[in-house]
Amino acid sequence: MKILFLLSVCLSVIFSSGCNDDKKHRLVMATNATFPPYEYLADHKIDGIDPKIVSTIAEALGYELEIQDMAFDSVIAAVQSGKADIAASGITVTEERKKQVFFTVPYVVAEQVIIVKKESKIKGSSDLKGLRIGVQHGTTGDTYVTKNIQEPERFNNGPLAVAALLADKIDAVVVDGEPAEVYIQQRPGLKKLEQPLTFEEYAFAIGKHNPELLKKFNDQLMKLKASGKLDAIIQHYKEINAPGNSGKSFDNTSFIGKFQESLYINFFKDSRYLYLVRGFAVTLEITFFAVLMGIGIGFAVAVIRSTADTTGKLKLADLLCRVYLTVIRGTPVVVQLLIIYFVIFGAVDVDKVLVAVIAFGINSGAYVAEIIRGGIASIDKGQMEAARSLGLGYWQSMREIILPQALKNVLPALGNEFIVLLKETSVSGYIALADLTKGGDIIRSQTYDAFLPLIAVALIYLAVVMLLSYLLGLLEKRLKRNE
Ligand code: ARG
Repeated sequence: MKILFLLSVCLSVIFSSGCNDDKKHRLVMATNATFPPYEYLADHKIDGIDPKIVSTIAEALGYELEIQDMAFDSVIAAVQSGKADIAASGITVTEERKKQVFFTVPYVVAEQVIIVKKESKIKGSSDLKGLRIGVQHGTTGDTYVTKNIQEPERFNNGPLAVAALLADKIDAVVVDGEPAEVYIQQRPGLKKLEQPLTFEEYAFAIGKHNPELLKKFNDQLMKLKASGKLDAIIQHYKEINAPGNSGKSFDNTSFIGKFQESLYINFFKDSRYLYLVRGFAVTLEITFFAVLMGIGIGFAVAVIRSTADTTGKLKLADLLCRVYLTVIRGTPVVVQLLIIYFVIFGAVDVDKVLVAVIAFGINSGAYVAEIIRGGIASIDKGQMEAARSLGLGYWQSMREIILPQALKNVLPALGNEFIVLLKETSVSGYIALADLTKGGDIIRSQTYDAFLPLIAVALIYLAVVMLLSYLLGLLEKRLKRNE
């Protein structure tokens, strides 16, 4: 525990000092790329009105732009905490938000609108009461519905709310007007109601600790406006997001034809399968290193606790281990992940995969520790006594006699722990890490289709778990034969 704490302090020092230098030349932009035409993923890159405006200004100011994709409700927090320099995400200026961040001059006027299915009887906001209304979590649409109508159903992004509408899980979606336009063009069967619910203005958000950037940015933004370049950018992205053809035509009448189209759209169009491939690699990477870390911590903790139990030594270390076990096993892993990312590495620019490895490694260590301690306890006391009377020291007996036998006994339980760990990494998306599950989510928010992306993700996990179980079975057999 102590070591871990020191480790995390060291890491944060290393990372913070290592990054400060190039931060001067780098401008980090936080966004939520599910909001066409303002920001969206196209060909695996973030594109749209906001990235274009910010990159144009960043270039003029001599910065290198780095875009970070995250949940919309983290975008403002990111600039506030200094994790990002600017938030550009179709952000509406509100009084609440002004308390937290500076806003640049506005660059667009916008509105909240209602999307419903074409055959819906809903005509306006007065018909919404008592129905199921979907919004994107943390947006002004969310605030509007909550204040004026009722508790909405909150989705991670607009497209997922639209997907729920298409699947009849909800009756209406309240969302910004221009994204709504694109959403309904991308999926047939939807319409936007004429009457807007609100009028708003978008601006970019900058941390209150950074008034110089605000000034420089505003100057550039005014120039863009005056030269007509701003309008040209906005126009350009509206046009390329206007209805086009889906690229391929399928026989829409038969089941097979529909299935083929669905396969094409979810996996092959724009090489979407790559989200799964890359996500899978990230999942494996996190799991692999977290398992190693978990084994390391687990062994150390188990040996300390068993030694304290049997010899009465290492009292303080034992106490620390107990605290570690209680805290880690007593809190959900998602919460631990979020604490490590947002609190421990709060203002530090640290690699998210590393954060995930640390979080899942520390978490798994607690379970591994108890499994191994159980294994050590299962070995007859006589073994230690015999080893000691042969002249081996305590630690040597532990290492050479007790642990190998203990390990063999707990192998199935350990295997189980690693399988759980692999699947648990699926919450990595909470810190906007593009793991396998998140890869499926990205596809879902582009295709509005739940079935295939989710099934594909599930099948990939299942295949890995089956392979793992098989390998563990082989290992167990080997060890039995060695007896
Ligand atoms: N304009 C709304 C707001 O500020 C929604 C913005 C959502 N943006 C996004 N990139 N998803 O709350």
